[in-house]
Amino acid sequence: MSEFKVIGVIGAGQMGSGIAQLAAVAGSDVYLLDKDTQALQTAKASISNSLQRFISKSQLSKEVGMKALARLNYTSNVEDLRFADIVIEAIVENEDVKKKLFAELDKIVKGSAILASNTSSISITRLATATKRPQQVIGMHFMNPPPIMKLVEIIRGADTSDETFDATKRLAQRFGKTVVCSKDYSGFIVNRILMPMINEAFHALYTGVATKEDIDAGMKLGTNQPMGPLELADFIGLDICLSILKVLHAGLGDAKYVPCPLLVQYVDAGRVGRKRGIGVYNYLKSPKQASR
Ligand code: NAI
Repeated sequence: MSEFKVIGVIGAGQMGSGIAQLAAVAGSDVYLLDKDTQALQTAKASISNSLQRFISKSQLSKEVGMKALARLNYTSNVEDLRFADIVIEAIVENEDVKKKLFAELDKIVKGSAILASNTSSISITRLATATKRPQQVIGMHFMNPPPIMKLVEIIRGADTSDETFDATKRLAQRFGKTVVCSKDYSGFIVNRILMPMINEAFHALYTGVATKEDIDAGMKLGTNQPMGPLELADFIGLDICLSILKVLHAGLGDAKYVPCPLLVQYVDAGRVGRKRGIGVYNYLKSPKQASR
C-alpha cells in the first residue's frame, strides 16, 4: 500500500468509530482520537461487535477482522496523529470547533498530510482557511453507518488540489465505496435534499397532520424508503439534523430551511435520538421510561 499507511480519525462517535473500522479493514494503521475517554471505550466495543457481525455473516474473514482490530489505536493525545497521511475529522457539527481543531492539526501533522472533514454541511472552503494547506483540505462525507452505507460524498473546497481530490477518491474506493462529487455549497448533495424532507416530517407532526407512526409508515411504504423520516432523524441524531438545518438556512438564505420548532424543542430537552435512548421515539428499555 503506497498511500495512506497511517490514518487518523478524530471523534469516536457514531461516524468516527465506523470510519476508523473501515480504515483498519482496508489495511491502514489507525489512530482514533476523542477528547472523551468514555467515547473511546464505547467505540472500541462497538467496532469489535461490528467486526464480529461481519465475520459471523461471512462478509469478512476472521483473519482480516483480527488484523483490523490489531491496527486500531485509541488515543486522546493529538500528538499521536503526527505520522498520519490523512486525518479524517468527525467531531461535533460546529464550524468554530472544527476550525480550531483544523488549525491545531495543521501544526501537528506532516506537511504532505491531507485534512479531511466528515462534516454534513459546513463549508470546506471556510474550514480550510483555518490552515496553511487549503489545497490539502477536503470534505469526505460518509453515510451512517459508515461500514454499511455504500456512498462517500467528496467535496472540493475552493483551493482543494486535483492531487488531494484524486487521492481521497482512491481512498474511498479502497474502502469499497462509491463516490459522488459535490461543489462546496451548504449541505452538499445528500443533506440539501434529505434535511428539508426530515424538517417537513417534523412540521407534519407539529401541526398534527398525523401520528409519528403514520408519517413514517406513509413515507416508508409510500416512497419505498427503508426508514421513515422521523425514524431516520432519530438514527442520524436530532442535534445533528438541527445543526445541518441551521447551516443550510445560513448558507442558502431560504426560509424553507428554518428548523421546525418541534425539532428545536426535542433537542433543547436532550431528546436527540437513538444515541441518547430517546428522540421522536423512545428506545429505553425500562417500562417506566418507555411510558413517557
Ligand atoms: P457524535 O456526537 O456521535 O460523536 C462526536 C464525537 O466527537 C464525540 O465522541 C465527542 O466526544 C467528540 N468530539 C467533539 N469535539 C471534539 C474535539 N474537539 N476533539 C476530539 N473529539 C471531539 O457525532 P456523529 O454523529 O458521529 O457526527 C460527527 C460528525 O459527522 C458531524 O460533523 C456530523 O455532522 C457528521 N455526520 C454525521 C452523520 C450522522 O448520521 N450522525 C452522517 C454523516 C456525517
